[in-house]
Amino acid sequence: MNAKEYQAILRAAAEVLGGAMHIVNSEGITILYNEEMAKLEKTQIKNVIGKPFREVFSNIPEEESTLMRALKERKPTKNQQQTYLNEYGKEINTVNSTVPIIVDGKVIAAMEVARDITEIKNMSDTILDLQSDLTARKTSEETSEVSDKGKAPQRGIRRYRFSDIIGESRKFEETIARARKAANNDTSVILYGETGVGKELFAQSIHYDGLRKNGPFLAQNCAAIPESLLEGMLFGTAKGGFTGAEDRAGLFEQANGGTLLLDEVSAMPIGLQGKLLRVLQEEYIRRVGGSKDIPIDVRIISTINEPAKELIDRGALRQDLYYRLGTLSITIPPLRERKDDIPLLINSFLKKYNERFDKEIWMISDGAETKLMKHDYPGNVRELENIIMAAVSMADEGQHVLTDRDVEIGGYSETANASGSHAESFVETGGSLADYLAGIEETVIRQYLAANDGNVSKTAKELGMLRQNLQHKIRKYSI
Ligand SMILES: Nc1ncnc2c1ncn2[C@@H]1O[C@H](COP(=O)(O)OP(=O)(O)OP(=O)(O)O)[C@@H](O)[C@H]1O
Ligand SMILES: [Mg+2]
Repeated sequence: MNAKEYQAILRAAAEVLGGAMHIVNSEGITILYNEEMAKLEKTQIKNVIGKPFREVFSNIPEEESTLMRALKERKPTKNQQQTYLNEYGKEINTVNSTVPIIVDGKVIAAMEVARDITEIKNMSDTILDLQSDLTARKTSEETSEVSDKGKAPQRGIRRYRFSDIIGESRKFEETIARARKAANNDTSVILYGETGVGKELFAQSIHYDGLRKNGPFLAQNCAAIPESLLEGMLFGTAKGGFTGAEDRAGLFEQANGGTLLLDEVSAMPIGLQGKLLRVLQEEYIRRVGGSKDIPIDVRIISTINEPAKELIDRGALRQDLYYRLGTLSITIPPLRERKDDIPLLINSFLKKYNERFDKEIWMISDGAETKLMKHDYPGNVRELENIIMAAVSMADEGQHVLTDRDVEIGGYSETANASGSHAESFVETGGSLADYLAGIEETVIRQYLAANDGNVSKTAKELGMLRQNLQHKIRKYSI
């Protein structure tokens, strides 16, 4: 294949992955520059292609250019956030990665790829705004609750308490006992367990059955959001901090007096882990770009899904942060290590999904039970729950028993639910960006619906969308 053909392939790859791309050869001459990149940098391809990078971009100091750094020092730059203004003066946020391309020990080129994350950034800002709006509403409603004629306010999505946690095996009882202890004091807690073992369930129970139950419970998955946005999400932003930033309270401020769940805390970049440690020690935060110290009183519950020692050994989790976060550390055993709990769980899920789907499955056959007892459950309780849910939803009218043919094992894909850096995957491949946004949309709709006691018209109005459109989305996300 000749150079021209290779270029065509690269160009197509960049287009398919939805990224902007810029490649310079070893002499710093641009050999590939695509339309997306030209748009970001507000120039035209013909002004850049075939020309020396240093001449075209003479306004960028050489030491600040990631392409030059890749070429000269062989240093890659991963996921660096950059802000551009487009031709209409609108702020565009990108995540850029630059790599040297080395063949036989020689740097032959350097490549930069940029992905537009403006939409995601806007979404994360929107979530913070909606969240603070809800928190404010909740506080004002709770104060006026007495006059509300005993109507129980249903807040948030699911509120789990210890009474919702099913399991009586010895190992699991010990876990519950430890978690109850955590609910009775105010220290930080680390929950360790594989995907689907119930970490969220435990975190919420510790909050809602604990000393801070009247305060807010907020959660943030540290892997689900690009690292460049996580800091602002946690600590808030101050006007003028970076172009276009507005004054916005982060989750720490919003969770004041309550609990903040940091899911997959080891996915947090090491630098930010250092900042988090400082915040926990000093008990105040400073918004990104701000100068005011804001005192905070937040209990932190964090989760990890690999043993702490392994995370610390491979440098994913700072040891000092681990000690600060894990005053009490609780291990939730995987389902395969407490199989005695399976029948109990099956019964409880049968009940739950009979109600949800209006079915009448009273029991499962011996064959089905044997099949379910034998399985290893890489997806733990979530996997078992999904199997039962699927079986009940497919049950015929008048059917009262689930047979082994009704329970389908194996549809579970570990990668779909196993954590792993979601952020990484969309920055790198672009694949799950839509999923990510859909997840946010679902969360927002759920929260607004809950705040409006399920009133669709009111929720649609508040979210600024058509009622039919909202109804469509409610069905789409099975809310
Ligand atoms: N002991 C339990 N009793 C009843 N339901 C459970 C139990 N453990 C987990 N579940 C159910 O399994 C599902 C997964 O639980 P949860 O979201 O808490 O898992 P997780 O450990 O946070 O998983 P991940 O690491 O993937 O975030 C939930 O629907 C939850 O209701
Ligand atoms: Mg979870």
